[in-house]
Amino acid sequence: MKENPIYLRICLTNRCNYNCYYCHAEGSDSKNSKDLPLGVILSAVKLAKENNINKIKLTGGEPLLRKDIKKIISEIYKINKKFDLSLTTNGFFLKDKVNDLKKAGLKRINISVNSLSNKKYGEITGIDGLNRVLDGISEASKLGIKIKINTMIDKKNLKEVMKFVDYCKKNNFDLRFLDLLPVKEGTKDMVFSSDNLNLVLESLCSSVSLENQNGTKVNKYIIKGTPVMTKAKSFGNKCMNCKHRQKCGEGIYALRLNADGKLQPCLFRKDLEMDFKKTKTKRKTNFKTALMRAAA
Ligand SMILES: C[S@@+](CC[C@H](N)C(=O)[O-])C[C@H]1O[C@@H](n2cnc3c(N)ncnc32)[C@H](O)[C@@H]1O
Ligand code: SF4
Repeated sequence: MKENPIYLRICLTNRCNYNCYYCHAEGSDSKNSKDLPLGVILSAVKLAKENNINKIKLTGGEPLLRKDIKKIISEIYKINKKFDLSLTTNGFFLKDKVNDLKKAGLKRINISVNSLSNKKYGEITGIDGLNRVLDGISEASKLGIKIKINTMIDKKNLKEVMKFVDYCKKNNFDLRFLDLLPVKEGTKDMVFSSDNLNLVLESLCSSVSLENQNGTKVNKYIIKGTPVMTKAKSFGNKCMNCKHRQKCGEGIYALRLNADGKLQPCLFRKDLEMDFKKTKTKRKTNFKTALMRAAA
């Protein structure tokens, strides 16, 4: 059976220890702190397997705030050892938890690092945590876990593009630049558009190609021999007439299961949300419907 191009993005909790000024909180209401129960997570993962979804991302809020993170990961692997499973974290608790993550079988971690300067990192995230995060990353790397650095580029950190390239080259990490989605009020003025970011990267790179990376289309730039990724625009049919298209700028590539137990095919379309947690009997049909809505 052909692998489903949509991936499942599970928001384990909407609690977070950071206060990033731009955060879209994965579309959920971050003031109502909720954790997604393990049973609901596993139910969605089983349906993902049934629907030929192989790629699963665990996110939050901050997923490492979950005390049962080791169990969550090992139970997911019990459903399918071959899942391409990754976790996206701010890295603050990585040093304490990385041994558990490794023991649970996790092979890939994406860490969000938005500045390599202590001062700017604090301004963007609201937390003085850069050194601790970098220590956690190097610990994870020593354990053989594949690292990807996710960096949201805005007008504050634009000048750090080459600093990130050098850091990732030195450590053999993948690097992904994300453009700021101005979901939160007051963030529009900080946006450095993806078109402009791509122009900057084109001027620095020795080659550029369009690639399919784990189901998502990406622009891959080679800068100083290091691959640097940005998301390529990949609007499907259902996105073409969407009024949110300009703001979104990317198209649907994931089915989200939010911490409140709702399935959300698109970050910008609250109206497409469907219940998953509450009605056990409807989980299978709601999952299929939400997946169809996501598949553009
Ligand atoms: C919502 S966070 C959750 C996981 C974890 N707390 C972290 O920061 O990595 C997941 C990713 O979304 C990114 N993100 C959050 N809000 C965003 C926005 N408005 N535009 C672009 N990326 C955003 C973060 O930078 C992070 O890389
Ligand atoms: S660490 Fe992640 S979830 Fe927390 S505020 Fe920052 S981007 Fe949002």
